[in-house]
Amino acid sequence: MNMNSPLVQHLSAREGYDRWAEVYDDENNPLIALEERHLPAVLGELRGLTVIDLGCGTGRQSARLARAGASVTAVDFSEGMLARARGRADAAGIRFLLHDVHSPVPAPNGAFDRVVSCLVLEHVDPLLPFFAECRRLCRRGGSVVFSAMHPAMLLRGISARFTDPATGAEVRPRSLPHQLSDFVMAAMGAGLTLDHISEHAVDEELAQRCPRAVKYLGWPMLLLMRFTPAAAANQSRA
Ligand SMILES: C[S@@+](CC[C@H](N)C(=O)[O-])C[C@H]1O[C@@H](n2cnc3c(N)ncnc32)[C@H](O)[C@@H]1O
Repeated sequence: MNMNSPLVQHLSAREGYDRWAEVYDDENNPLIALEERHLPAVLGELRGLTVIDLGCGTGRQSARLARAGASVTAVDFSEGMLARARGRADAAGIRFLLHDVHSPVPAPNGAFDRVVSCLVLEHVDPLLPFFAECRRLCRRGGSVVFSAMHPAMLLRGISARFTDPATGAEVRPRSLPHQLSDFVMAAMGAGLTLDHISEHAVDEELAQRCPRAVKYLGWPMLLLMRFTPAAAANQSRA
């Protein structure tokens, strides 16, 4: 296939999301609908906690975290996505940072009760230094929570993508085909202990709400993982 045919455009993650920003919140995205159904239970009570949202995009989760009573720092490297997040009516009080999460975040060790990264892992390469940075940012007793497109979706050739209304082209920000074992091994190498893992498939209710999901009925679409900083690693590095 021609990688740059008018029908499919492969872009860097940053450029892809800069383009996606304009319509990101308008899509009836089944992955997001599924995540919003299951993530709150994994995040737990947030009132009074400090939370960092890595790869915050248009601020969808950052705003939810803030509404739940957390003090939120929201990080993204796409100016387009961050501009949308800053412009939200419910963004007051959220600290925004334009930053590439492949580099250390300018915050002290253990600064956050929750380190959250939603639907970003497929763009992170390599995983281990990112997981190590998440562990560094997480206070002892806190947790690191990831949502991700389920690796089984990759078996169907699916990765993050959108249709650019200006050109009609399908735009694909660069994604990596991480497997479940890649996540688990990177977390182990980074000193994170797995505390929760769940896989969520498309059901009838979701398929009715999001017509795009009908063809994935019964197929795992979403992966949720929660980790805690391993005690020994935390003691030696914090
Ligand atoms: C699928 S969107 C998810 C946005 C938001 N977390 C959500 O769940 O709605 C992925 C986001 O990750 C951001 N991202 C990807 N790679 C990044 C990196 N290396 N540093 C910072 N942000 C990144 C993109 O700019 C985009 O906003």
